[in-house]
Amino acid sequence: MKFFVDTADIDAIAELNDLGMVDGVTTNPSIILKSGRNILEVTKEICALVDGPVSAEVVALEADAMIAEGRELAKIAENVTVKLPLTWDGLKACKVLTGEGKMVNVTLCFSANQALLAAKAGATFISPFIGRLDDINLDGMDLIEDIRTIYDNYGYETQILAASIRSVNHIHDCAVVGADVITAPPEIIKKLVSHPLTDQGLEQFMKDWAKTGQSIL
Ligand code: E4P
Repeated sequence: MKFFVDTADIDAIAELNDLGMVDGVTTNPSIILKSGRNILEVTKEICALVDGPVSAEVVALEADAMIAEGRELAKIAENVTVKLPLTWDGLKACKVLTGEGKMVNVTLCFSANQALLAAKAGATFISPFIGRLDDINLDGMDLIEDIRTIYDNYGYETQILAASIRSVNHIHDCAVVGADVITAPPEIIKKLVSHPLTDQGLEQFMKDWAKTGQSIL
């Protein structure tokens, strides 16, 4: 499973990238706002740092304007993925931009039927939002499973990019049901390493090692 980082924080991306944990990056207008950076400048910087796909989202709502914005974003670097909302206009823009060979991430997906449409429009990635479904008492993971089944039934190559990840359990469950990619905030990716038995075991080993009086170096 690929790990994308859901942030425009360059330092956080660089730290995980140095460990080989970053297969790509996703941003959205809220993330750009939080970064305080210019979208074109920060996307260029991220693309130079990371080898994999870097999603940058259009803000137009009408297909022709989305296509124009998508083309502008795609000029930033080869690894830019144009992020489009799951609307009828977004699907039209998806068809055109993927036809030009650009990578497209169709976002704000909340149903399997929407994911089916995105695959038929040629999307490179579909982004179902797990956390936001959980927030309204629906099961976001059920959606990931349904999309996996549908895409496998018909051999769609669109990659399932599980988004709106709020916990390490979301990442575990995505891996079990076969999401192709997860995108998560850096702090959640870093939490994957934590286990109380690891901490407890290490503490005991350190105590016992001190008692041996030995040193390795
Ligand atoms: C990523 O592509 C999404 O924009 C992001 O994961 C949304 O996460 P949120 O629901 O926590 O804002």
